[in-house]
Amino acid sequence: MEIETAVQALRDGELVAFPTETVYGLGANAQNPAAVRKIFEAKGRPTSHPVIVHLDSPRFLHRWVREVPETATRLAERFWPGPLTMVMPRAPNVHDVVTGGQDTVAIRVPSHPMAQQLLTAFGGGIAAPSANRYGKLSPTRAEHVREELGDSVKVILDGGECQIGLESTIVSFEGQNVRLLRPGGVTAAQIRQVVGELLVGANLESPRVPGGTPSHYAPTTPMAIVPAGEIDAHAAALSEGGRRVAALAQRLPLKAHKYVTWINAGRRPEQYGHDLYANLRTLDKAGCQQILVQDVPEGEPWDAIRDRLLRAASSVSESDDSGAMAVLP
Ligand code: TXA
Ligand code: MG
Repeated sequence: MEIETAVQALRDGELVAFPTETVYGLGANAQNPAAVRKIFEAKGRPTSHPVIVHLDSPRFLHRWVREVPETATRLAERFWPGPLTMVMPRAPNVHDVVTGGQDTVAIRVPSHPMAQQLLTAFGGGIAAPSANRYGKLSPTRAEHVREELGDSVKVILDGGECQIGLESTIVSFEGQNVRLLRPGGVTAAQIRQVVGELLVGANLESPRVPGGTPSHYAPTTPMAIVPAGEIDAHAAALSEGGRRVAALAQRLPLKAHKYVTWINAGRRPEQYGHDLYANLRTLDKAGCQQILVQDVPEGEPWDAIRDRLLRAASSVSESDDSGAMAVLP
C-alpha cells in the first residue's frame, strides 16, 4: 500500500512528498537531522530557513513545544486540523536543522485525509516545506512535484488537487499577543474572532519567515502587476510591439490580441487562490516574455493572494497622477 511505502521511506530517512489542503509538502522524519538535511538539498534552500513540523493532532504537541501559549490552545481548538501554522517556543530535543537554530518551532496539523493517514501511520512529526525548488511556485498537484523534484523524492503521494492552493497562515506569539507572519487560508478576521487583537507583519523581534523574503513564489518569466482597468492596454501595447504576453486577469479580454495568452481566473477569491499557482505555471510555460497580472481587489479575502502576487512579481506598474500608463520593463 502507498501509505505503508511512504511510512517505510520516512523511517529509512528518505523524502516523501504528500498532499495537504494548502500545497504539497516535501516531508522527512523531523527527528532525523540527516533526513531533514535532504529536504534542503532537494529544494536548493539555504539551511538557515526553518521548516514546519506537521503532526496528526495536538496530542503530542508537548514533545515539540516547551510551553504552549494559552492563545495557541484556543487557536488550535478552532482551526486544527487546518491551514494554520503556529510558531511557538521549541522543546529542548527539537533539532536545529528543523528550527534554523532558532528558539522556536513552527507546528501545523493539516486536514487533508492523506496527510492525516500518513502522519497517523508514521506516528511522529514530519518536517515539510512546500515541495518546490527554493523561491519557485508551490506545487498544488502531484505532477508539479514530479516535474520539479522528480528523482530526489523517494515517494510522491498523489492526493489530487490541493483544495486551498495557497500556503497556511502563520502566526507567532509575544506574551499575550498574537502576530500574523504570513496571510493564508485562515484569515486575519477569523483569528481576531478567537484572540481579539492581532498584530500584523514581522517586527525585529519576530522570528524569521523566509517565505517573507521579497522575491518568492515566483515564475521564471518576468511578471508585473497592472491596475485592473489597464491590463488590456498593456497587453495590446506589448503584443503590438511583437512581444508574446501572458495575462492573468479576472475577466475576459475586451478583444483578442495576437500574441496574448489570456487566463480569466474569475472574481471569487477561493477559486482564484485554488487555481493561482497552477495558472502561473501554465502561463510560465506559454513561451511568453512577460506575464501581466490584473491587480486583485482590496479586502481581507484577497490578502493571501495579494501577498503571493507581490512576492512573485518582478515589478508593479502604477498609474501616475496624469493617468498615463507606467512603462513596463
Ligand atoms: O501550507 C503550508 O504551510 C505548507 C504545507 C506543506 O504545510 N508548507 C509551507 O512550508 O509553506 P514553507 O517552508 O514553504 O514555508 C513555511 C514558512 C517558511 O517561510 C519558514 O521560514 C517559516 O514558515 N518558518 C518555519 N519555522 C519557523 C520558525 N520557527 N520561526 C519562524 N518562521 C518559521
Ligand atoms: Mg515554500
